[in-house]
Amino acid sequence: MAGSPLKIAVLLSGSGTTLLNLIEQIAAGELDAQIQCVVSSRADAYGLVRAEDHRIPSALVPRKQFPGTATFSAAVWNEVRKFDVDLVVMAGFMSLLDVPEDFTNRIVNVHPALIPAFCGKGMYGHHVHEAVIAYGAKLTGVTVHFANANYDEGPIILQAAVPVLEDDTPDTLAERVQAKEREVYPQAIQLIAEGRVSVEGRRVTIREQ
Ligand code: GAR
Repeated sequence: MAGSPLKIAVLLSGSGTTLLNLIEQIAAGELDAQIQCVVSSRADAYGLVRAEDHRIPSALVPRKQFPGTATFSAAVWNEVRKFDVDLVVMAGFMSLLDVPEDFTNRIVNVHPALIPAFCGKGMYGHHVHEAVIAYGAKLTGVTVHFANANYDEGPIILQAAVPVLEDDTPDTLAERVQAKEREVYPQAIQLIAEGRVSVEGRRVTIREQ
């Protein structure tokens, strides 16, 4: 791979399996990126332990200690800006974040459904898969998108479908959707690392290699 690796900050709130996948894809040479820092919005996030295990600098910005999105976001950006960061990667980050001008279309998120279905406030993790099954949808999937200041709303980079099986439970469906996330999220970040992604309004174009 040519050029220098894409410098990323990873934001998380939970177990950090998404972070671990990125670490593994980088180690395998599939993702040309370097994780500069991890920021967690929760003190009990196991992702913080994973960061320490892999000697990645980490910071805790506990969401519940802030009165609102503005002060919380300022504290998160204060941590991110301590490092030289090209892209912010949300990896199970469960809080709204204000987007400073210079980070417009430089934050990515993965959502475990096909946006604009089964997304928005309260739709995260298992809630999504429960809602998909309860609705009777036959297809769900994974969406990687640029994050803006609203839940699950920014321009879509990649989507991949996952069929809903008749005997699926939220657990079995989550397992297959997460397997697909582990493929698609690093792919999308790699496209950005290769400079092949451009955005115009809501539409994302991916340049052929
Ligand atoms: C992932 O499955 C991700 O799709 C979902 O949270 C999980 C994080 O797992 N994100 C959302 O629901 C965002 N709306 P992790 O904490 O083990 O990385």
